[in-house]
Amino acid sequence: MDSEARTLEMVFPEHTNPLGNAFGGFVLGLMDKVGSYAAARRAKKPVVTVAVGRVEFKVPIRSGDLLEVVAHVVKVGRSSLTVQVDVYKERFGGGEETRVLATRGELVYVAIDREGKPTRVDA
Ligand SMILES: CC(C)(COP(=O)(O)OP(=O)(O)OC[C@H]1O[C@@H](n2cnc3c(N)ncnc32)[C@H](O)[C@@H]1OP(=O)(O)O)[C@@H](O)C(=O)NCCC(=O)NCCS
Repeated sequence: MDSEARTLEMVFPEHTNPLGNAFGGFVLGLMDKVGSYAAARRAKKPVVTVAVGRVEFKVPIRSGDLLEVVAHVVKVGRSSLTVQVDVYKERFGGGEETRVLATRGELVYVAIDREGKPTRVDA
């Protein structure tokens, strides 16, 4: 599938606050990276992030959780691509029955040419 990207990442203590919950910025960074991979796959061109839409942190993510970040292109414009990014958390060693949707957001990317200007994405 050319408009999807995914990755797995472990949450380590350095990604958390003193309460043991993951920093929102750590999760957002993962979402932005994987979202850009999905957008660039679809565009077949480099992309940059132009906007981060609504992001919902539904349940806390803790140190030791395994995160699966799944990104799908949901809309393609002239040069822009909107990507839905879902973050599932799973207890490391807990099995798939511990897997829950933890965070969801929409990010927008723009395909760029060599000068960094917006360039058309093929339909
Ligand atoms: C992204 C960038 C190349 C766009 O350049 P621009 O001249 O403003 O582009 P345009 O106004 O022609 O818009 C290009 C596309 O982006 C979309 N767009 C622009 N701003 C947007 C926003 N705030 N939200 C959603 N889409 C947006 C436009 O609707 C357009 O979509 P379309 O081509 O599918 O119709 C430029 O703003 C840029 O380089 N920004 C910095 C990107 C960056 O460094 N990101 C990393 C984060 S630090």
